[in-house]
Amino acid sequence: MNKINSIEEYHEEYSKSVRDPEGFWAEKADTFLWKKKWNEVLEWDFDAPSVKWFMGAKLNITENCLDRHLENSGDKVAILWEPNDPNESSIKLTYKELHSRVCAFANVLKRNGAKKGDRICLYMPMTPELAIATLACARIGAVHSVVFAGFSARSLEDRINDATCNIVVTADGGFRGAKTIQLKSIVDKALENCPSIERSIVLKRTGEEVKMEAGRDVWLHEELSRVDDVCPAEIMDSEDMLFVLYTSGSTGKPKGVVHTCGGYMVYAEYSFRNVFQYEKDDIYWCTADIGWITGHTYIVYGPLLAGATTVMFEGVPTYPDAGRFWDICDKHKVNIFYTAPTAIRALQACDISLVKKHKLDSLRVLGSVGEPINEEAWHWYNDEIGKGRCPIVDTWWQTETGGIMISPLAGLTPLKPSYATLPLPGIQPCLVDADGNEIVGNDVQGNLCIKYPWPSMIRTTYGDHNRCKEVYFSAYKGKYFTGDGCRRDEDGFYRITGRVDDVINVSGHRFGTAEIEAAIDEHENVVETAVVGYPHEIKGQGIYAYAICHDTNVDIALFIQEINKTVTEIIGPIAKPDKIQIVHGLPKTRSGKIMRRILRKIAEGDVSNLGDTSTLLDPSVVEEIKAGASLE
Ligand code: WT7
Repeated sequence: MNKINSIEEYHEEYSKSVRDPEGFWAEKADTFLWKKKWNEVLEWDFDAPSVKWFMGAKLNITENCLDRHLENSGDKVAILWEPNDPNESSIKLTYKELHSRVCAFANVLKRNGAKKGDRICLYMPMTPELAIATLACARIGAVHSVVFAGFSARSLEDRINDATCNIVVTADGGFRGAKTIQLKSIVDKALENCPSIERSIVLKRTGEEVKMEAGRDVWLHEELSRVDDVCPAEIMDSEDMLFVLYTSGSTGKPKGVVHTCGGYMVYAEYSFRNVFQYEKDDIYWCTADIGWITGHTYIVYGPLLAGATTVMFEGVPTYPDAGRFWDICDKHKVNIFYTAPTAIRALQACDISLVKKHKLDSLRVLGSVGEPINEEAWHWYNDEIGKGRCPIVDTWWQTETGGIMISPLAGLTPLKPSYATLPLPGIQPCLVDADGNEIVGNDVQGNLCIKYPWPSMIRTTYGDHNRCKEVYFSAYKGKYFTGDGCRRDEDGFYRITGRVDDVINVSGHRFGTAEIEAAIDEHENVVETAVVGYPHEIKGQGIYAYAICHDTNVDIALFIQEINKTVTEIIGPIAKPDKIQIVHGLPKTRSGKIMRRILRKIAEGDVSNLGDTSTLLDPSVVEEIKAGASLE
């Protein structure tokens, strides 16, 4: 069953995976349903880069998520959906029901012109229909591109155009806590500039009034009444595209990370089962949104491949109050709970009685993902939520890695707060120094790379293969570079120390500083901006923006409001700066490069030792910035 049951077995599996990676993964892959087996397990070249797993094999991932469970667990709950409003009923979809809903949705897509290989954008609230739409795309061999429904019309437009999607699936609106988000009108705005879109399919969720454009927009419920629920799965090649998911890097616009069918499937299931030590009757809940990779792999694919019951939550952790997560854990007797450090810190800051009034006795395993978890949050999670009896798996991975890479296996691997501990079998991490030399031995620190392919790794960046090569495979020859710094302690345990590039991680959301700068620059009074991250108690990192204005005689409160509005329009509310400082100049070298190191130090409030500023064009700007820093 591909499950590791002891730490000794982990070490054996790990050695085997390094000694004979192809034999190792062939054995794991053997447990799935393939239409045709592979001729060759792996072919790779990190210079190209080109990575192919299970070559020549044919499959459909939805047959593995759904059809193959029907005979023995057709009546088992696949998706357990908890609505935003606790007074609305939750929904349980059995594997049988989910299968037929996915097939019906797939038929709706086909009726509306979708074909194998088309890109379909999903811009939806966390309703069961989002998971169903995701699987429906996979059913017919269309590539899904899920865009988190908190992104702006501009972001949505960019993503639709980059992948030339022909269909967008959305909803009239979405509920998030006390708010409703007008999703359809955001889509309408985006579609003004999306020539490739032929159809938008609209779920009725909030019931608010929306404009339906004849010939373009159709209601999902009306379309569903015109189809049946029989839809044979499209036969896919192992290396056919399964999905594209956009993520930010240190430069340029967000890029579409491409994942393919066979390898992603094998790794999603294997990592899910082992990291969480999933057992047959477990109720598993990952609190992410399907708009992020965590939701793709560990709400939808991983759990369904394993035949698990996966909880999907529409709302937010603080609605109607900050006890909602714990409420849901008790209500649905959740056994495995997987969330982000930012949520833990936010809830830790609330009245502890909101935790204490819940039993939380069904919990067996806790997980953390998205950013480094600080020790204080780790201990609170361990003591107050896990009651000291639930192992915490601190899972390190990325959109690009497709699945969890470094993490304890729950209950098997010894834990160390703030450490992601050990690599999963099949994962060969290494640390490199500034010159690109591998740092061997323990008690060392460096940049984290992976030196051997794994099944769910990124294959390309959509429409721009060279960018994939530049960003991930050029910094260190023959290695995949993660962008993270990392320490390996005396026991060989890994601790991720954070990004070493111009990517910041705000509440587990990833942004390029350049991307936020470009958004702020669109404000008419802004000449130039520099954005850096700084430590933030709840968000992990906050966004600090330094802006040079044309007219410096501005009402700062109004200016901040306007910048927030601009950033919200261009990226989304999640990218709003936490602090904005108006400056007359930025610390630049004679060649015109902004010395971000200095700006970071000032933003951190650490102005005592700014290091060497002698190479600056005008060192006096540093004094001015220091004096005006917003350091409350
Ligand atoms: C970046 C990837 C895939 C998870 C969701 C975020 C940071 C992620 C951890 C962790 C320390 C972590 C890294 C990574 N990160 N998990 N357990 N400990 N840092 O996916 O948006 O692709 O971001 O998140 O910096 O590079 P993502």
